[in-house]
Amino acid sequence: MTTMESLIGLVNRIQRACTMLGDYGGGSDGALPTLWEALPSVAVVGGQSSGKSSVLESVVGRDFLPRGSGIVTRRPLVLQLHKTEEGKPEYAEFLHLPKRIFTDFSLVRKEIQDETDRLTGKTKQISPVPIHLSIYSPFVVNLTLIDLPGLTKVAVEGQPDNIVQDIENMVRSYVEKFRSAVVTITVFPFSFMPNCIILAITPANQDIATSDAIKLAREVDPTGERTFGVLTKLDLMDKGTHALDVLEGKAYKLQHPWVGIVNRSQADINKNVDMIIARRKEKEYFANSLDYSHLASKMGSEYLAKLLSKHLESVIRARIPSITSLINKTIDELESEMDNLGRPIAVDAGAQLYTILELCRAFDKIFKEHLDGGRPGGDR
Ligand code: GDP
Ligand code: NA
Ligand code: MG
Repeated sequence: MTTMESLIGLVNRIQRACTMLGDYGGGSDGALPTLWEALPSVAVVGGQSSGKSSVLESVVGRDFLPRGSGIVTRRPLVLQLHKTEEGKPEYAEFLHLPKRIFTDFSLVRKEIQDETDRLTGKTKQISPVPIHLSIYSPFVVNLTLIDLPGLTKVAVEGQPDNIVQDIENMVRSYVEKFRSAVVTITVFPFSFMPNCIILAITPANQDIATSDAIKLAREVDPTGERTFGVLTKLDLMDKGTHALDVLEGKAYKLQHPWVGIVNRSQADINKNVDMIIARRKEKEYFANSLDYSHLASKMGSEYLAKLLSKHLESVIRARIPSITSLINKTIDELESEMDNLGRPIAVDAGAQLYTILELCRAFDKIFKEHLDGGRPGGDR
């Protein structure tokens, strides 16, 4: 792994350890929550059935999310991808089932559904309480992804009237989250940018001018620096029409280029078309398209995944000084907390504190080695 990969990997693990500690209600309301929020993540935003869950799955390269028409995603899913050494087996683990290892990803999908139902019942209700899932695999990039319920315009049968606003508020709270971090971290000499990257998922077969995703992204990220426009369902556009004005950045210009996507259709899902075949079909779609073949190398799920990890890397790189100060502050706080361990503290929480402390020290060490390694000033 490169230094950057190991740093991102450590940051990922610190985040996870902090989440677990938060779950114990452990006595750290100091730097830890702030540290969690300071780390970058990617959230999908868009209308219902625009293809959000499908895009996330493609970015991960695995089938494991519930997808389909109507409101399928009813609780936020915070998904941490951890890159492991080559040759290691792939597995998944839920925060609410810490002792269970999932190697069958169709069972992961079932557990997401069951755990959603556990809080909301088998209804069309939503809940803002996230499900935390970690995937360990040699084939992923270190990344935190957040799947969110889709924005809607009207409540359907069985939903309360305020659900439209509730969903919007929930989505907003995720993509605006880092505003609060900006306020909290004023003690540091480096200013934190809001750092939740927004994947604004817009289906090409609907009026793009009224895209819920773009509307919300514009509000929370007016300069477009952390918004990636993703145009799904290109294959479902009316014959004779195309989306070149959007994909070429003429119609709705964002700072980052738009990426066109062709996910699996519902018929593909019903037939269990797997990820590898879907990606190949997507590649062929762009390569053979009369409209898009000149853009083919910058389209598709695989390209989007690469673009995102490259962007994330540059975000983290720019933020390493502030993350390091935060981590040092966390080390100080944790050390004094460990000194006080004489007072009653849950055994698990104590162990978790040690873990975080160790991870923070490891981050600090690698970071310092990186600085000493002949690239003064880091590689910014
Ligand atoms: P979400 O509600 O935004 O999470 O959307 P899903 O990922 O659950 O997708 C909703 C439906 O649209 C599913 O039936 C998908 O198969 C279908 N779908 C999503 N993206 C595409 C696409 O690019 N092309 C086609 N043909 N169908 C798609
Ligand atoms: Na859906
Ligand atoms: Mg979904």
